[in-house]
Amino acid sequence: MLVAGNWKMNTDRTSAVQLARDVVGAVGDVTGVQVAVCPPAVSLDAVFEVLHGSSVRLGAQNMHYEDHGAFTGEISAGMLRSVGCHYVILGHSERRQYFGETDVSVNKKVKKAREYKLVPILCVGETLAQRDAGEENAVVQTQVEKGLAGVEIRDPGEVVLAYEPVWAIGTGRTATPAQAQAMHAFIRGLLINMYGEKVGFAMQILYGGSVKPGNAADLFAQPDVDGGLIGGASLNAADFGAIVEAAVAAS
Ligand code: PGA
Repeated sequence: MLVAGNWKMNTDRTSAVQLARDVVGAVGDVTGVQVAVCPPAVSLDAVFEVLHGSSVRLGAQNMHYEDHGAFTGEISAGMLRSVGCHYVILGHSERRQYFGETDVSVNKKVKKAREYKLVPILCVGETLAQRDAGEENAVVQTQVEKGLAGVEIRDPGEVVLAYEPVWAIGTGRTATPAQAQAMHAFIRGLLINMYGEKVGFAMQILYGGSVKPGNAADLFAQPDVDGGLIGGASLNAADFGAIVEAAVAAS
């Protein structure tokens, strides 16, 4: 299992360092479950210093798909490596919704991340309108297949998937464990089709969308839910720690 905190556009350098210290204090020696935090880019190096020597890994929230060049404001995979990142969140629905990211650009990013040995956390998920129209499987299938098009995966740990129904993100309205399991099983089937039984079965599929200490255990108890991508609750070290403990108990 993997529990990753997505801090989004929250914390400045000082409060990011403090939150990282609190997270390390709460779950820095946890074993049996992987833990990561994804702070804003300006705090990555400072947070890495805090995480160093603990079992908590560092992730970024986005990156560009070129190696370097005239792309004002962008950050490359190599830059993320140079400040100690292990993971990078790609294709988060907020990036798709507000910053024009498409399956094509997300796919380029996944490939570039792999080239630099970063582990992408590839986010997929339908909107409420798409679910109401019964299109959730088709939408997610397209996002998975296009996002991973041409991406070779030999070791299941090379890429992580995150199912994040858009209607559950930051809304306090979480998918029921049964809804999450149904979609995770569907995604598992797609991964097995693409990468074979052995790899597809072992790849991590995280659930994201209003995961809290109170609902984490039920979600993590589902057979195809391999952890969580945590937004709001990851900004509180005690809540994040409780979610990690739920993953430990479920694994
Ligand atoms: P949330 O965000 O936990 O605040 O709903 C999840 C995410 O966007 O990764």
